[in-house]
Amino acid sequence: MTDPCAATRLPTELPSDPMHWVKAWLDEAMEKQVQRNPNTMTAVTVGEDGQPTGRQVLCKEFVPDPGYVVFYTNYESDKVRHLEHNENIGLVFHWDDFGRQARLEGIAVRSPPEESDAYFASRDWGSQIGAWGSDQSSPLESRAALIAQVGKRAMKLGVKAAGNLKSIAAKDRPVIPRPPHWGGIRVWPRRIELWIEGTDRIHDRARWDRTLERGDNDTFVVGTWTGTRLQP
Ligand SMILES: Cc1cc2nc3c(=O)[nH]c(=O)nc-3n(C[C@H](O)[C@H](O)[C@H](O)COP(=O)(O)O)c2cc1C
Repeated sequence: MTDPCAATRLPTELPSDPMHWVKAWLDEAMEKQVQRNPNTMTAVTVGEDGQPTGRQVLCKEFVPDPGYVVFYTNYESDKVRHLEHNENIGLVFHWDDFGRQARLEGIAVRSPPEESDAYFASRDWGSQIGAWGSDQSSPLESRAALIAQVGKRAMKLGVKAAGNLKSIAAKDRPVIPRPPHWGGIRVWPRRIELWIEGTDRIHDRARWDRTLERGDNDTFVVGTWTGTRLQP
């Protein structure tokens, strides 16, 4: 099998599972840290008015078999509102230093609550409070109003001192539960495109498709990938 990280071209016989290629590229980008947040993906959703919009999110889990990726967010944010009305999502990774792009398109569902609980518990304490502090995507009067809101909510969670959370000693930090409106989004791709930069703009491109059949509890039975080489 061709090593995805050693390949400067897609093999003549296309790989049978592009998820493993994306995972290998992501792992290499994370390991070499040539850019900040190499796990950044542009996530594109479509609003109720039909307007597509993209924003960056961080890929926190990449499971090549059976094939889904996870990011975490506020379930009352615009992106999740969009997904409630249209479950289709596009994700794009771009690793400029490696001349690589990966596009994933598929269906978004919420992660199982236990998984979100476990990830939330692993987060930095300040970020845990931050998840309670912000009503992501809601209008805000001023930065000062946000700081006051975060402080007030921190006190409600049992934080004694207002102000700089970083200055609070570990022993004075109450355990922060996961907010019900915050958790993981699992994206199950049904289409993946890999792109490798070539000279004179003669890049290498191929697209794979598979079927997704909805099973129990927001999981999917996945079909096998079929690849097609594309002109750049
Ligand atoms: C590098 C980077 C990583 C980000 N990661 C996340 C993330 O993992 N989850 C998230 O909700 N927002 C993340 N954001 C903020 C989002 O881009 C966006 O501003 C926010 O989620 C609100 O989007 P929405 O109003 O479309 O829902 C990130 C922003 C940047 C620049």
